[in-house]
Amino acid sequence: MSNILCIGAGHVGGPTMAVIAKHCPQHRVVAVDINAEKIAAWQSDRLPIYEPGLKDTVLSARGRNLFFSTEIERHIAEADIIFVSVNTPTKTFGRGAGKAADLQYWEKTARQIVENSTSPKIVVEKSTLPVRTSEAMERILNSNDKGLFFDVISNPEFLAEGTAIRDMEDPDRVLIGGRETDSGQVAVQAIVDIYAQWVPRDRIITTNLWSSELSKLAANAFLAQRISSINAIASLCEKTEADVSEVAHAIGTDDRIGPNFLRASIGFGGSCFKKDILNLVYLSEYYGLNEVAAYWEQVVKMNEYQKTNFVAKMVDAMFNTVTGKRIALFGAAFKANTSDARNSPAIDICQALLEERAQIVITDPHALDNAREALGEAAEKVVFEPDPYAAAQGAHAIAILTEWRQFVELDYGAIHEAMIQPAFIFDGRNILDHRALHDLGYNVYAIGKPPRTHFPGA
Ligand code: NAD
Ligand code: UGA
Repeated sequence: MSNILCIGAGHVGGPTMAVIAKHCPQHRVVAVDINAEKIAAWQSDRLPIYEPGLKDTVLSARGRNLFFSTEIERHIAEADIIFVSVNTPTKTFGRGAGKAADLQYWEKTARQIVENSTSPKIVVEKSTLPVRTSEAMERILNSNDKGLFFDVISNPEFLAEGTAIRDMEDPDRVLIGGRETDSGQVAVQAIVDIYAQWVPRDRIITTNLWSSELSKLAANAFLAQRISSINAIASLCEKTEADVSEVAHAIGTDDRIGPNFLRASIGFGGSCFKKDILNLVYLSEYYGLNEVAAYWEQVVKMNEYQKTNFVAKMVDAMFNTVTGKRIALFGAAFKANTSDARNSPAIDICQALLEERAQIVITDPHALDNAREALGEAAEKVVFEPDPYAAAQGAHAIAILTEWRQFVELDYGAIHEAMIQPAFIFDGRNILDHRALHDLGYNVYAIGKPPRTHFPGA
């Protein structure tokens, strides 16, 4: 039996510890957080995040070998293995501001581990970190006067929100990086043994520490780059009457390219892609690799363009003004099946439309509270409406900003009747049946597709 601790019970710490506890009844798993409200929610029936399958997984182990607590110091002292899954946002001040990772929470955690330890431990980087952070971690941890030795392991997480439980239960791979020393390899094996309880051994990849750290940043950069690439092609489609869905299908059938992550959209959001690419950009600049930095930075620039271009298209289509017009935004979450609105393109689009002095109403099945928080002061100017029919009532336009299944299944005939005419739909996720909407009377604009309007000569 091992005592496993996770510091940081957020979108990664909570779900990963729940899955580990479910599959490893022999271990005691505790997730701790400085946020007492969040811990109380993990202990309750209303979990702090919406994630399909999460509740069942938590309930399968909570109280048996899965515990949530705010007593960080006590649980550090008791732990054999400590996963660290605190947030690593982009630095907003000083050197590297706007690009580098802000490692203050990370370093505080390392120091807290040393202070409260009376036995050697394995410390696992679960957060996404710049390459060679584990070296700094080792130095802080092992500069102690207690004679304690800490092994540092990198075990980056690849789960995506909305499919976190599925991704953890059946991962493409688990990555574990460690030192090539005897004790480093023993530590790697201890983490392999945890995952091997449910993950086939050939999907558990072991590497050196730096490869593991860099692979996580590279994986996110490659995924985001595919989205920016298809969005760049979508812009060309809009000028040439090609259809981006047809192009994505045509290129995605090439085995070497593959079909995933080719959905043109209003741009990627979420707490990680932008932050992790900017981190890669900063690292490249740090090592003097300016061309490499510029290459990756362009992925982020393309993503910003995608959002501003979408708003510009809306304003252009609606006779060059949206001032005073009610616009219903369908979706606030950065993707479907999550309540997370951090860095959601929907929030940026909402802000841009507010600057145009549109009257905004937002609807979302799970993310309205987080959208309010993400909008900050601007939230006062926005109506938050859980019912999409009520949101669209009296609106000039609907913009689909999150690909929720619920939005596909609405009665768009009834909605059309309740809207101001001519009614517009801007499908920023290409999820609706555009021909059918046009037949109902809508003027339909999508991403990377010719518009379908009722305006002669348009
Ligand atoms: P999160 O903000 O949801 O959770 C982080 C938690 O850490 C918060 O609850 C915060 O209160 C807590 N915390 C911060 N400092 C602490 C401290 N000193 N002691 C105890 N708790 C502390 O963040 P997240 O989305 O879970 O991301 C965590 C890390 O995992 C990041 O590095 C992120 O890049 C990475 N990651 C995230 C995802 C994802 O889908 N969200 C996927 C893979 C990797
Ligand atoms: C992403 C990665 O997929 C995970 O592997 C990784 O662990 C995680 O980041 C992380 O490090 O945080 P996540 O951001 O939760 O996961 O969700 P994704 O499914 O990757 O979607 C990210 C954004 O890209 C969303 O806004 C989504 O709508 C958008 N997207 C995705 C597109 O616009 N087009 C696509 O084809 C796919």
